[in-house]
Amino acid sequence: MQRISESFSPSAPIDQKVLFAGRIQQFTDVANAVAQRGQHVILFGERGVGKTSLSTVISHAFKGTANTISSGTINCDQTMDFGGLWRKVFREIPINAGITNGIGFNATPTMHTGSLADYLPATVTPDDIRHILQRLGKTIIVIDELDRIEDPEVTTLLADTIKTLSDHSVPTTLILVGVADSVNSLIQEHQSVERALVQIRMPRMTVAELDEIIDKGVANAGMTIEKAAKNKISSLSQGLPHYTHLLALHALQTAARKGQTHVTGEDVSSAIENALSKAQQSIISAYHKATSSQRENLYAQVLLACALAKPDALGYFSAADVRDPMTEIMGRFYDIPAFSQHLNAFCDDQRGPILQRIGETRRFRFRFINPLMQPYVTMDGLKRGLIKDTSLLK
Ligand SMILES: Nc1ncnc2c1ncn2[C@@H]1O[C@H](COP(=O)(O)OP(=O)(O)O)[C@@H](O)[C@H]1O
Ligand SMILES: [Mg+2]
Repeated sequence: MQRISESFSPSAPIDQKVLFAGRIQQFTDVANAVAQRGQHVILFGERGVGKTSLSTVISHAFKGTANTISSGTINCDQTMDFGGLWRKVFREIPINAGITNGIGFNATPTMHTGSLADYLPATVTPDDIRHILQRLGKTIIVIDELDRIEDPEVTTLLADTIKTLSDHSVPTTLILVGVADSVNSLIQEHQSVERALVQIRMPRMTVAELDEIIDKGVANAGMTIEKAAKNKISSLSQGLPHYTHLLALHALQTAARKGQTHVTGEDVSSAIENALSKAQQSIISAYHKATSSQRENLYAQVLLACALAKPDALGYFSAADVRDPMTEIMGRFYDIPAFSQHLNAFCDDQRGPILQRIGETRRFRFRFINPLMQPYVTMDGLKRGLIKDTSLLK
């Protein structure tokens, strides 16, 4: 049981290479940028696709290399100003306070050890940051959850920091991590930094990558899994590794409780029940709000059809994309007018908002506000018998 829970962590980013699956292209792109002086990285994608995991594994990979220091992941929060952000980063970097000739590192902690944050003035400017970082060796700094910075001034100053680091060829790589929207605003408003920024998009994971998560975790737990059971988990995950971990964790635990080391499709079925009840409360209540009603209605079916609609790279789908899955679910042809009012209701307070709508009338595009809602809706549809199997997901 312990080995199973060490192998699958639905709520924590991966920090060990042994459990890290796929992402070879993105890993290479980040590593290349880190090696290039004057280049910085912006890693963006939907919530839950594995951005924090990749940046953590990258930091680990460079740790131990001469002169490479990773300050770890910094979680931004709303109240933080530019100085506060850097104080938080620099607090992670220990330094011997007793040194006399400039700033240096001392791996062995002494009584006098402080942190680099002590060197920051009361009001911090991008040039202060550059000045300090210039004295360090190769350094990688991850700034995670960029989208949580609400003050636009902080984003502007961060862009200025990238520019000055790049112009002075400082051997530091900033890895900024956030959802796509936050990245757009950083780049659009500060085009001067575009040259210094390598933009790396984290798409949803492929089925092969999700299979690899399962294979690595199952092996780590000292168990085996039926091919059909594995396929079911990876297709239900819809590219989001959180659900792969969640379903695999429960499926393996179910098998282990029966004293078995081989995981079957049946174990995955009971894992679905478990995963639904253990989902985040916010997801459960939002789903309930979107679909519940006194009278007979189609909200659950339409929402399920949305979850089965094939989204584009940014998670958006159109009403036309909903038509086929809706027809499959209902067993007869359903055209857009039959469910367009449901789609609209999902976008306002009445039943949500659970979907976000962009574009103009007749060319609206929709997406789940919380991407983790999508597999939840699919699994619930499966449990309620609205769809029979996962073949619709292909
Ligand atoms: N490459 C990967 N291999 C295995 N598991 C992963 C991988 N990427 C993400 N995960 C898992 O997926 C979940 C979400 O990952 P996380 O890095 O927190 O996503 P994000 O930062 O994009 O929201 C976590 O449970 C994490 O363990
Ligand atoms: Mg994250």
